[in-house]
Amino acid sequence: MQIAFIGGGVMGEAMIRGILSKGLATPEEIIANDISGPRRSTLAENYRIRTTEDYGIAVKGANIIVIAVKPQNLSELMPELKDRFVRGHLVLSIVAGASLVTIANGLGHKSVVRAMPNTPAQIGEGMSVWTASSEVSESQKEVAKSILGALGKEIYVSDEKYIDMATAISGSGPAYIFLVIEALIDAAVHIGWPRETAGELVLQTVLGATRLAQETGKHPVELRNMVTSPGGTTVEGLLQLEEGGLRALLAHAVIAAYEKAKILERE
Ligand SMILES: NC(=O)c1ccc[n+]([C@@H]2O[C@H](COP(=O)([O-])OP(=O)(O)OC[C@H]3O[C@@H](n4cnc5c(N)ncnc54)[C@H](OP(=O)(O)O)[C@@H]3O)[C@@H](O)[C@H]2O)c1
Repeated sequence: MQIAFIGGGVMGEAMIRGILSKGLATPEEIIANDISGPRRSTLAENYRIRTTEDYGIAVKGANIIVIAVKPQNLSELMPELKDRFVRGHLVLSIVAGASLVTIANGLGHKSVVRAMPNTPAQIGEGMSVWTASSEVSESQKEVAKSILGALGKEIYVSDEKYIDMATAISGSGPAYIFLVIEALIDAAVHIGWPRETAGELVLQTVLGATRLAQETGKHPVELRNMVTSPGGTTVEGLLQLEEGGLRALLAHAVIAAYEKAKILERE
């Protein structure tokens, strides 16, 4: 499988790393195009892949072309790539806010997969939600699934509207959790823990709680009740979180991110 990357930044690199570590392609089968010379050198040195600043060289011979530039660079990029695609090429875009139609029209090519990964993809613990245009064949979908699966978990959705919803949950979600982690560490320091130990306590607690929920499959309420003894300490803490409006606050955060994702997609 020959894969070309247009944009080899944080997410492009995460995908290259995942693809190589899962053995989906060899370094010789990957080529990365990036506007930045130092970036190309880093990718070539670290992963032994081929790199180029020429779009034609990148696209020619590839089965899959991954578009991984920032949204603000997409409009200048698409005319450069337009009409370089032929039948059999699959475009896989991870550009936030760029719809299937935008990509297909901008590139003059109809076989497009649109995915929303997230930053834990950098360590193979990503969550990607993806969809495909009707021109994408079943075998191309299988390939897209395996590439996104190399970054962690992936979920296919047939309706593109779920991509904006995914942006608000799994795309932006790591930032919400990092804020909670930071706040809990500060709280631990506030009551007297040294900062380093506080970090260890909080990170392992978040990880352990997540894995317990995943591995037992139990409802969060059931797991929460297991920690909450009558008249105990946890119930005191939970009361403060409820009085502070944590549930409603999280709902408003997700709704605001979703509304913004829809606006960005229309722009
Ligand atoms: N990070 C996330 O959590 C996340 C999650 C889901 C989706 N995404 C999407 O993933 C995409 C990439 O994000 P990222 O964080 O990897 O960005 P990034 O680190 O900035 O990587 C983009 C790379 O593309 C290069 N580039 C810019 N214009 C180019 C062009 N015309 N031709 C070729 N290369 C070009 C950039 O070079 P310069 O730095 O020199 O401009 C940079 O090296 C974005 O569209 C984002 O919406 C990101």
